[in-house]
Amino acid sequence: MHLTTERLILRPMLQSDAAALFAILGDAEAMRFWQRPVLTRLAVAEEMVREQIAAGKLCRYWTVWRQGDAIGSCDLSFIEPANHAQTGFLFRRDQWGRGYAAEAMSAVIGHAFGEMGLELLTASTHAQNAPARRVLERLGFGLEGLVAGHQPVPGVAMDCAFYALRRQTSAAQKGA
Ligand SMILES: CC(C)(COP(=O)(O)OP(=O)(O)OC[C@H]1O[C@@H](n2cnc3c(N)ncnc32)[C@H](O)[C@@H]1OP(=O)(O)O)[C@@H](O)C(=O)NCCC(=O)NCCS
Repeated sequence: MHLTTERLILRPMLQSDAAALFAILGDAEAMRFWQRPVLTRLAVAEEMVREQIAAGKLCRYWTVWRQGDAIGSCDLSFIEPANHAQTGFLFRRDQWGRGYAAEAMSAVIGHAFGEMGLELLTASTHAQNAPARRVLERLGFGLEGLVAGHQPVPGVAMDCAFYALRRQTSAAQKGA
């Protein structure tokens, strides 16, 4: 299943996207607000992609293309109950600031609340990750809470901002 926007095509992730993923996860600036270490080897990205693909419908991962170039990804990870997913996004640094994240995520949200029938999307990010928070807020996500010292990975504490978007809110915003 492909989604299209004015400038982008979103499709399920392929094994050949590992190099594009490595270009982001191996970039210290892009990883500044992430809890995992910066990748130093392409083989690790290849293994991550293999795992993501094997996870099948538990984790739908979309890679964003423009003129054949993989420039970023948006993902939906399912949480029980099945009408709720957690979402995340990351883009290659040389493409930041052009509105791609918001454009791509807007298509993913439309699909999640439309064809997929989800009721709730959640997202969390480092509280100081201003660009990510701005993207979420622009998409209509509401801030649910700020948690100091949250540990998304054992032993790694960060100040975290939790966001949520409900189907009704999203539909009301579209109609407004
Ligand atoms: C977060 C990220 C995906 C944004 O991608 P992007 O394509 O540049 O996003 P957009 O261009 O759609 O929007 C960025 C918004 O942040 C704003 N912004 C950028 N830098 C900012 C800063 N330092 N402070 C405040 N706002 C900032 C931009 O002005 C824009 O807002 P606007 O649309 O109101 O002008 C990208 O920075 C990224 O990949 N970061 C690393 C991974 C990451 O942190 N992912 C988020 C995890 S939830």
